Amino acid sequence: MAFLQPRFPLAQLPTPLHRAHRLEAALGVGPLLLKRDDLIGFGLAGNKTRPLEFLLGAARAEGADVFVTGGGPGSNFCPAAAMAARAAGLDCELVVWGDPAGAPNLALAVAAGATLIPTGDTNREAVDVLVAERAATLRAAGRRPYAVPRGGSTALGAVGFAAAAVELAQQLDEEPALIVLAVGSGGSSAGLMAGLAAAGLDTPVLGVSVSRPPAEIAAHVQELAAGCAALLGTPAPRAPEIIDARGPGFGTATRRERERARLALHTEGLLLDETYGAEAFSAAVDQLEAGSGPVLYWHTGGLLPATTSIMKGTT
Ligand SMILES: Cc1ncc(COP(=O)(O)O)c(C=O)c1O
Repeated sequence: MAFLQPRFPLAQLPTPLHRAHRLEAALGVGPLLLKRDDLIGFGLAGNKTRPLEFLLGAARAEGADVFVTGGGPGSNFCPAAAMAARAAGLDCELVVWGDPAGAPNLALAVAAGATLIPTGDTNREAVDVLVAERAATLRAAGRRPYAVPRGGSTALGAVGFAAAAVELAQQLDEEPALIVLAVGSGGSSAGLMAGLAAAGLDTPVLGVSVSRPPAEIAAHVQELAAGCAALLGTPAPRAPEIIDARGPGFGTATRRERERARLALHTEGLLLDETYGAEAFSAAVDQLEAGSGPVLYWHTGGLLPATTSIMKGTT
């Protein structure tokens, strides 16, 4: 199907899809398929490249001159947004909670040309309101802002992952029994649900929530998925199953999750971050061990700073 929304191309698509034979042998389970959005080819931005293509497409179509969004010290989206905005010829302003000092992801965003606006506290939820307020201030000063909430998770941003589902449908020889991916702000899984429905696939999806209670994020994903399908004019998507992988806290994996991430590194050269990847990958292995049949793990990327404890072998 064609996606008619304006799109600013950033990614090298399709991202690879392949079997993880060495990992299967090491784990003693399978088949395990990997969809490699970590190799998406735009500034280590991983899965977030996909919504940004449509968000920047809309921003440019509206004649915007500054992209306004936000996040926290460990955000992958902030540097991705900064790089994408600059590539599209826009300025970028980022409202950030927490302490930006010494945060490599935010340093990268600044190096890419973004301006940080620290909130001065650790309230994550307040960021989206402050993003809208900053956009209003910029507009009053004669600028043309395009503002999006944390993670770029809007119905339009989700179109990026709907397109990814159609991309996947074209790559698959056989439908897997299950697709597993990490869930943060929900836009990726929402778009995936909408895109699978659009492609006529009813493959179940297991969302692995790393930051929000499953019931809360499931409702949000469902709303975003419905909004995305409405934009595309495609059938109503099914709801994903969402499990709780918050574990020891946001950005910290359990010992087992880290061990499995190290195994993925040793056997396949697969770099999983401790915020999203290690948790979601481990959930995929749980499913294989439970005998669910062929599992597709959607590797969403994640920046290097969050992989360090896995590299050191810290447990
Ligand atoms: C590496 C990685 N994986 C998964 C996600 C979750 O995506 P979403 O916020 O669309 O749920 C993020 C979000 O920033 C991410 O950076």
